[in-house]
Amino acid sequence: MVAPLRVGIAGLGTVGAEVVRLIERQGRVLAERTGRPVKVVAVTARSKKKRAVDLSGIKWAKDPLALAADPEVDCLVELMGGAGDPALSAIDTALKAGKSVVTANKALIAKHGLKLAKAAEKHGGALNFEAAVGAAIPVIKTLREGLAGTGINRVYGILNGTCNYILTRMEQEGLSFDECLKDAQRLGYAEADPSFDIHGHDTAQKLAILASLAFGTQVAEKSIYVEGISSIAPEDLRAAAELGYRVKLLGVAVRTAKGIEQRVHPTMVPKSSSIAQVMDVTNAVTIDGEGIPPITLVGPGAGGAATASAVVADIADVARGIRSAPFGRPVDKLQATEKAPMERHEGGYYIRLMARDHAGTAATIATRLAEQKISIESIVQRHPNGSEPGKSAKGGPVPVILITYATHEDAVHRALQAVQRDKVISGKPQVIRIEKN
Ligand SMILES: NC(=O)c1ccc[n+]([C@@H]2O[C@H](COP(=O)([O-])OP(=O)(O)OC[C@H]3O[C@@H](n4cnc5c(N)ncnc54)[C@H](OP(=O)(O)O)[C@@H]3O)[C@@H](O)[C@H]2O)c1
Repeated sequence: MVAPLRVGIAGLGTVGAEVVRLIERQGRVLAERTGRPVKVVAVTARSKKKRAVDLSGIKWAKDPLALAADPEVDCLVELMGGAGDPALSAIDTALKAGKSVVTANKALIAKHGLKLAKAAEKHGGALNFEAAVGAAIPVIKTLREGLAGTGINRVYGILNGTCNYILTRMEQEGLSFDECLKDAQRLGYAEADPSFDIHGHDTAQKLAILASLAFGTQVAEKSIYVEGISSIAPEDLRAAAELGYRVKLLGVAVRTAKGIEQRVHPTMVPKSSSIAQVMDVTNAVTIDGEGIPPITLVGPGAGGAATASAVVADIADVARGIRSAPFGRPVDKLQATEKAPMERHEGGYYIRLMARDHAGTAATIATRLAEQKISIESIVQRHPNGSEPGKSAKGGPVPVILITYATHEDAVHRALQAVQRDKVISGKPQVIRIEKN
């Protein structure tokens, strides 16, 4: 009889409670699949309140550090959250004692992942964090193991369910950003303080982890250009739809001639692409590997049961004795990355301008774009009912929407600054980058 893997769980909230339940329910299957029983022997949380999960026969550790140091625990499962203590010191303690660690904590891995991976390497334990990106979607294993023999050119995805929910509602119902955010909060999809999600930082933490696995770079959230979705208006989504696109908040890491570009921003994607089909709170990641068509993984990016599925799969790997390098290769082989110089970013652009209703406005805009060698792929000029194209009913500004062919971002900025100086538009131009598949 093989000795069971003795698991200690710190955190019994949305995810932790589901992990206890899943190990209990899947006990026999897990033992068959891994060749070893998996047993939760100890748990801890902030308070000892009654929980909706059966903890009888399981020891209560006085705090996360005591749990991590308990000699009867082989594998620490950290499900408390937070980029600092007690999660950090508990994981560090467990790894330094040669134990394995499983966590769903993207904030901690994005900030301290390299240091912790080094400790895991040195002391021989595993550090698994599949649930930290895309919850139930097995994207970490896909990059680390499934595509270990394949060069990666680009990895990009919808990594934040809150933002995707808001953009889906705005597109489908023509509602404003604020209305959809309020609904997301009412339904529990968005936090009371949603800024971390809507300004793109949650996506950036997950992208930093994916980029490291895909390109062998050091996890560096600070190297990522980040822009959120709060400036997106329903008219952008309507225009995108008319032009054959959808707007998604994407995290993109791509190999370019100048290095690895990492960026998070609202992005127009062709309506026919796999990623454009991903609606509501669902997450998705597309991987472009050398010599193979893109692979898209789609699934639930949050929720107790979905996240527990990935956590328990990581525990199963520990039970099997698998000790992969956490970021796919030894930490000292990971390359440093620099912040993407977005002014040199090359791609197509969506530009929405409020053109003043003057003779020669269209010609001025066209000239300023031509001066920067920007070619226009399509143009939509809206005209309210009863007015001529290019002229508003009351002589007010008229929306002009342009899609450019691939150009540089600094060229777009220069052209738009000139157009603003010419005073042929009112307000600030809206610019959304296009990502082609
Ligand atoms: N929820 C999701 O959909 C999801 C998806 C992917 C990843 N994750 C990640 O999974 C982790 C857990 O998330 P969650 O949603 O389960 O959080 P949660 O519901 O807030 O649960 C957190 C748990 O940790 C315990 N805890 C917090 N601080 C503690 C401390 N100082 N000492 C001891 N215990 C402490 C809490 O104790 P009490 O119960 O006593 O308060 C609670 O049981 C986070 O890293 C999160 O980013 C979550």
